[in-house]
Amino acid sequence: MRDFRARGLIYDRETETEAGSCDTVRCLFGFEGSRAALGNVLLINGDPPAQGRMSGKSRCRERKTAAPDMGGKSGGAESMKEMRLGFIGFGNMARAMADGLLLKGAVKPEQIYACAKHYEKLCGAAEARGIHPCRDARETAENADMVIVAVKPYLVAEVLEPVREILQEKIVISVAAGYPFDRYESVLLPGTHHLSTIPNTPVSVGEGIIVCEEKHSLTEEEFAVFSEIFSQIGLVQTVPTAQLGVAGDLSGCGPAFAAMFIEALADGAVLHGLPRELAYRLASQMIVGTGKLQQASGSHPGAMKDAVCSPGGTTITGVAALEQHGFRSAVISALDAVRKKQM
Ligand SMILES: NC(=O)c1ccc[n+]([C@@H]2O[C@H](COP(=O)([O-])OP(=O)(O)OC[C@H]3O[C@@H](n4cnc5c(N)ncnc54)[C@H](OP(=O)(O)O)[C@@H]3O)[C@@H](O)[C@H]2O)c1
Repeated sequence: MRDFRARGLIYDRETETEAGSCDTVRCLFGFEGSRAALGNVLLINGDPPAQGRMSGKSRCRERKTAAPDMGGKSGGAESMKEMRLGFIGFGNMARAMADGLLLKGAVKPEQIYACAKHYEKLCGAAEARGIHPCRDARETAENADMVIVAVKPYLVAEVLEPVREILQEKIVISVAAGYPFDRYESVLLPGTHHLSTIPNTPVSVGEGIIVCEEKHSLTEEEFAVFSEIFSQIGLVQTVPTAQLGVAGDLSGCGPAFAAMFIEALADGAVLHGLPRELAYRLASQMIVGTGKLQQASGSHPGAMKDAVCSPGGTTITGVAALEQHGFRSAVISALDAVRKKQM
């Protein structure tokens, strides 16, 4: 039996009319997976809807109502629209995620709560986005359904310790590098539903990657809601625990490497007279287009390179120059160095 907060409409089961609305009501749900269904519907002391993902019985201390028909898949979508997200830590990564979610309309500003170390600074960032600033992790966790842990890895245990009881009733999503499932098990209380992820900064424009550890303790429904929200800002990719680190390195550090490539390409073009802004614009779009082409075609990257290199042509001359300067081995070494630093 899990105790959590839900928002929503309250229906009077006997008259089958809307009896009012509630912002936060404490409920007791006697079945697993029900948290994914929290949203615009409050299921209280009635039989669960016949469809959708909910099953079992629920009870609530406050009012006697029953949920209206949520309608299969749309039930999940409605839940998502009401899901309250709480960021513990609102630095670069949390802001990138919040910005992407707001840009894509995945959540409304009023659905986001956040805390940071420096409250005044946080207020500025919160005001700019219309989200709720919170004084501390406790206030954030209390107000959220899904809590995103976005402090530096060395602070995770210290910051979560005072809110472990609250988190036991929430969906906990970590973005901290080097914090897989098993490590969280020693930080969080038994039974806490949690998932370790590694996002990258392009989530801020809805083109990111969120690498997720295969081993997690979210219910199927909770993971579905998580995916529904976060797939709007990037590719949600699940990997085995052993691959979480390297997949996170590729997607998390990759933007720095790609940005260096864009800059270097532009430098080469500027050397030959192209205005810098134009050079950046072309280089960036070239990266976007090449990535999309690879995704759409599923082509081997080597074949894509071959397709642009005509015999004795100009592109192969450039490819040969890159090889002479160890381009590919430099990139491989970069990822290798990152990985070794994490070990
Ligand atoms: N940046 C990336 O590209 C990236 C990629 C993948 C994963 N990650 C992960 O994301 C997490 C955050 O990284 P970041 O780059 O966003 O770091 P960051 O910019 O330094 O942000 C860290 C945030 O934690 C806050 N904080 C510090 N102590 C706190 C406390 N006691 N209570 C609440 N909040 C506290 C800081 O508050 P103040 O702002 O007030 O100092 C700041 O908002 C890390 O675990 C990292 O491994 C980052």
